Amino acid sequence: MNYQIPFNKPSRAGNESRYLAEAIASGHISGDGEFTRKCTTLFEQELGVRKCLLTTSCTHALEMTAFLLNIQPGDEVILPSFTFVSTANAFVLRGARPVFIDIRSDTLNLDERQLERLTAPRTRAIVPVHYAGVGCEMDVILEIARRHGIAVVEDNAHGLFGKFRGKYLGTFGSLAAHSFHETKNFTCGEGGALFINDARYVERAEIIREKGTNRNQFFRGQVDKYTWVDVGSSYLPSDLLAAFLYAQLEAREEIQSKRRRIWEYYFQHLGEWAQQHGIRLPSVPETCEQPYHMFYLLAPSLEFRQALMAHLKAREILSVFHYLPLHLSAMGKRFGGKPGDCPVSEAVSDRLLRLPFYNDLTEADQACVVEAIKEFHG
Ligand SMILES: Cc1ncc(COP(=O)(O)O)c(C=O)c1O
Repeated sequence: MNYQIPFNKPSRAGNESRYLAEAIASGHISGDGEFTRKCTTLFEQELGVRKCLLTTSCTHALEMTAFLLNIQPGDEVILPSFTFVSTANAFVLRGARPVFIDIRSDTLNLDERQLERLTAPRTRAIVPVHYAGVGCEMDVILEIARRHGIAVVEDNAHGLFGKFRGKYLGTFGSLAAHSFHETKNFTCGEGGALFINDARYVERAEIIREKGTNRNQFFRGQVDKYTWVDVGSSYLPSDLLAAFLYAQLEAREEIQSKRRRIWEYYFQHLGEWAQQHGIRLPSVPETCEQPYHMFYLLAPSLEFRQALMAHLKAREILSVFHYLPLHLSAMGKRFGGKPGDCPVSEAVSDRLLRLPFYNDLTEADQACVVEAIKEFHG
């Protein structure tokens, strides 16, 4: 079905075609070319990241973290149930057992008060997901992780340029994974980045990303031939993708201010209706600066949410739900997940609905969405 107002529409910032043409003309379209360097330098300098490596997706950046941490069969990794499958799969691929933690009902981020109880001798990593780009309670998470000698890997698929207590998300954990999938604020269709904040992991990350070879050292003149030195795969994107991405990153201020306007419009115009209908709007603590990744409503019940989605659909507006709790998925059940394990995740999954949100969403279209919502009374 074609919607008059879709949920997502990938937007162009302006220079994408020009940079693609430049990359083609340069004769270097495989990975780690000039545009890759421009993107990674931007992240390293602007966000204070020790080392950034572009990857083919956030999923792949997460898979790299599991290699880097030497996750072994039987190791445990604590992650929210309310997240995308890749947060879990990356570690399960290496034989780990996911330990699902419930989320807080305000930010929908992992509930750090339950962390201590879930840590065990085999816990190797905690993976906070900054839902909607609103930062998790990183000071508490890092303190618990430090005390138990557990690594922290941020899944920052939503949160690029967001901050917690004035510090950029993606710079707290030893490692952090990012996404440039077309639904994200900045995109190249499919893509990602691994931020490495702990210097110990840099050299091996380069090797794992280059099929287990020391090719990067060879290109830097540090070795006279390159060879197979470790396990690995091919996680580096073509420079064509980096060229597209760089055009978007270059326009980051404009993109973020557009998204801020969109988010604030929804927030202002839906407040009264939300209050009258028992709907909760997103909650952003004072400690967080969000990157305006998404706008969601939390309906009072599954029935209300489904009826509202159908109401919007009849007006050719696409709203979408989000994650199904991982502990209740077919795979999650194989790890012992059962109803009631993560009650907040279960309730939120039934009641959450995301509204159309993309860089080029016009105020006129947003006004239509708001009008349509206000016509709905449950
Ligand atoms: C929290 C989270 N982690 C990871 C991913 C996977 O991202 P990618 O599609 O770049 O692999 C997603 C996808 O949207 C996500 O929401």
